Amino acid sequence: MQTITVNTASGAYPVFIGSGIASEFPSYVNERFKGRRCALITNPTIDGIYSSYIDVLKNELNCVVHTIPDGEKYKTVETWNGIIDALITFGLDRKSLLIAFGGGVVGDVVGFAAACFMRGIDYVQIPTTLLAMVDSSVGGKTAVDHPLGKNLIGAFHQPAAVWADVNFLETLPRRQFIAGYAEAFKYAFLGGRAMFDFMECNKAAVLGGGSDLLLECIERCVRIKAGIVARDEREAGVRALLNFGHTFAHALERFYGFEGLLHGEAVLWGIACAVSLAKETGALPRNYWGDFDEILQGMPLPPLPSAPWIDEIYAAMFADKKAESGQLRFVMPVAPGEAEASYAVGEENVRQVLKEKFAHWLPE
Ligand code: NAD
Ligand code: GLY
Repeated sequence: MQTITVNTASGAYPVFIGSGIASEFPSYVNERFKGRRCALITNPTIDGIYSSYIDVLKNELNCVVHTIPDGEKYKTVETWNGIIDALITFGLDRKSLLIAFGGGVVGDVVGFAAACFMRGIDYVQIPTTLLAMVDSSVGGKTAVDHPLGKNLIGAFHQPAAVWADVNFLETLPRRQFIAGYAEAFKYAFLGGRAMFDFMECNKAAVLGGGSDLLLECIERCVRIKAGIVARDEREAGVRALLNFGHTFAHALERFYGFEGLLHGEAVLWGIACAVSLAKETGALPRNYWGDFDEILQGMPLPPLPSAPWIDEIYAAMFADKKAESGQLRFVMPVAPGEAEASYAVGEENVRQVLKEKFAHWLPE
């Protein structure tokens, strides 16, 4: 088991990563959060697959269980409110502990409930998707969506610990695994030359799943994220780099009504667009183009659900949190493993990239 410490201004916490480590979670909680009442929040899919593990937690911890509906479309204020209702009904208090058991949706909404209940209580994350292991369970961004945009309602609230057991990935559908791979792949573009080279050499093995390289990839991603969050917990600067590809991705997700395209699938498209934008604007010097063409080769770009509409996708970018004072922010690669955020990208450049990348789907 690897332990990576995330040091933030609001406190430090461990991220435990390994294979088969979930069995050690109850004794950890009993020791670290001795005597505290717990509420485990999950969804019916996880509840169905891991009912015996949940029974163990119910028995070994002083733990009640609440389920929320499965899916991004339920990452809402209503679901958050349902959790708060349940916590009040269960009689939980300021010392109680929430356990988010699931993917990024469960983690984000439970984190937001923990941030608000009694003005903030502790929570721990047990991520069960690749996306949640490499990204969403670490760093304390919690949120729910608004019909007009993703993650528009939320808070920064760091977890007290994260337990990432890769064995949970054995039941993860392939489509979801690829969506999680997108967030891991993103670190190749911002995590330094060593991460760029690691992903370039091992992308097929990581994408294949189940190997020691996947475990190493998760550890590398978490180390990079922990380093960035330690420097900039609230995204005043360097943390913006973690949004690599996301200005395009969030607009695509919104265009497809948060249903047709998974978040990670949209991020894959966003990464491809961000690299093209860097070429288009000159942010990425020509001598690196070959490295980038190589790393993008074999990228599992998913099909789009329907023909994209460039005007609407461009307009959707302005509903994103990353737009400041009406200006769009794009994170672009400037060298292998290095990226920079820019507010100075022309509309024509963005439209050109969208046209080029989505040419196959656009009407003749
Ligand atoms: P998800 O939580 O919707 O999970 C994907 C699907 O897989 C769900 O149907 C879920 O029930 C199922 N599932 C989860 N674990 C499983 C397992 N082990 N076996 C079988 N099925 C399993 O999606 P996600 O990709 O994990 O997370 C996406 C969310 O994360 C988005 O809302 C995104 O905005 C958010 N996000 C947050 C951050 C952050 O920093 N907080 C970062 C990136 C993404
Ligand atoms: N996933 C982006 C962030 O945590 O900042």
